[in-house]
Amino acid sequence: MIKVPAKQKADIRVNINGRMFEERVEPRKLLSDFLREECGLTGTHVGCEHGVCGACTVLLNGSAVRSCLMFAVQAEGAEITTVEGLAQGGQPDALQAAFSECHALQCGFCTPGILMSSVDFLASHAEPTEPEIKEMLSGHLCRCTGYKGIIEAIEKVACTRKDGEHRNGSGDTV
Ligand code: FES
Ligand code: FES
Repeated sequence: MIKVPAKQKADIRVNINGRMFEERVEPRKLLSDFLREECGLTGTHVGCEHGVCGACTVLLNGSAVRSCLMFAVQAEGAEITTVEGLAQGGQPDALQAAFSECHALQCGFCTPGILMSSVDFLASHAEPTEPEIKEMLSGHLCRCTGYKGIIEAIEKVACTRKDGEHRNGSGDTV
């Protein structure tokens, strides 16, 4: 991590969604603000700014983190994925499609953060139980959906991947 005096700006290089960003930032700049204000990636939402609501969650080197609890300078040299990095070729990824099909969102404010946590969660939980999904979701606040559709969407993606593995017998995921 770069160490700079409080009022001095620092140059950082961060790979975000496969694209390299090089910016000069204040040491106190939060990663969430950096993503939104310097990189134009406003899909990362900011709710509480205290690590409570989960709306600002992104992947940092593959792990879900609260971007409101990190300074941008702490992400120097890292690979970050935001919700904008999920869809490929204009097509939603499997989780995004499942959220749509299962009516897992209403206002959508919480959705980017939940999607990013779900990506991390499913990478280590190929066959998640409902209690495990609920435990993961305990780090996210959604005031609209009641969580039922969100749980169904995550289960749907896990089942689809498992079926795909059985069909091709190779262990590849869809
Ligand atoms: S804005 Fe980061 S956890 Fe709420
Ligand atoms: S869909 Fe509105 S807060 Fe979750």
